[in-house]
Amino acid sequence: MSLKKIAVFISGSGTNLQSLLDSIHNKYGEIALVVSSNMNAYGLTRAKASKVSTVSLNVGELGYDSVILSLLKDSKIDFIVLAGYMKKIPPRLIEAYENRIINIHPSLIPSFCGPSYYGIKVHEKAIEYGVKLSGATVHFVDEGMDTGPVIMQEAVEVDYEDDGKSLQKKVLEVEHRILVESVKKMCQEKIVVEGRKVKILP
Ligand code: GRF
Repeated sequence: MSLKKIAVFISGSGTNLQSLLDSIHNKYGEIALVVSSNMNAYGLTRAKASKVSTVSLNVGELGYDSVILSLLKDSKIDFIVLAGYMKKIPPRLIEAYENRIINIHPSLIPSFCGPSYYGIKVHEKAIEYGVKLSGATVHFVDEGMDTGPVIMQEAVEVDYEDDGKSLQKKVLEVEHRILVESVKKMCQEKIVVEGRKVKILP
């Protein structure tokens, strides 16, 4: 059976992409395409180093959703991973890839998520609130922002001395781990969605 073909969407440094290149690519699945909303994203350099095709998108451009859809079709993409992708996914893409787009978010959803929660701000808000636990969430992408069914979560302890940066570092390590595990299960078709609940098969 041929490997599942994966498209990874990025906007920045791409450390989550790197963990997929290191642990998934040509082992459990094939990262066939990297799409960036930012032509200067370091993640593009990481993709090219692994000889993965890359595309930079001008997301504001009229009809860019049609461009993405035909790119994904041409590359025979099975599912999409948002790894630090900072733009909203167009409805036509969500429709075409229902329960086949997953996202990694640096908090325990439904805490500290939604339109104004991204990057270091997520961790600064968690520190400000004084939570004792934070963490990372992998979830399916639906028409909302960070609202799709949860696939996997893992918590980290927040110490009194933590600030946004130190918490971000702890959470990023968890992100890399649970994103790889979730993508591996997607490649193995071991993720079953029942309404809002997700079952991960052994
Ligand atoms: C990660 O914290 C991710 O959860 C968030 O943006 C950051 C991207 O990091 N969406 P990287 O580009 O994968 O290093």
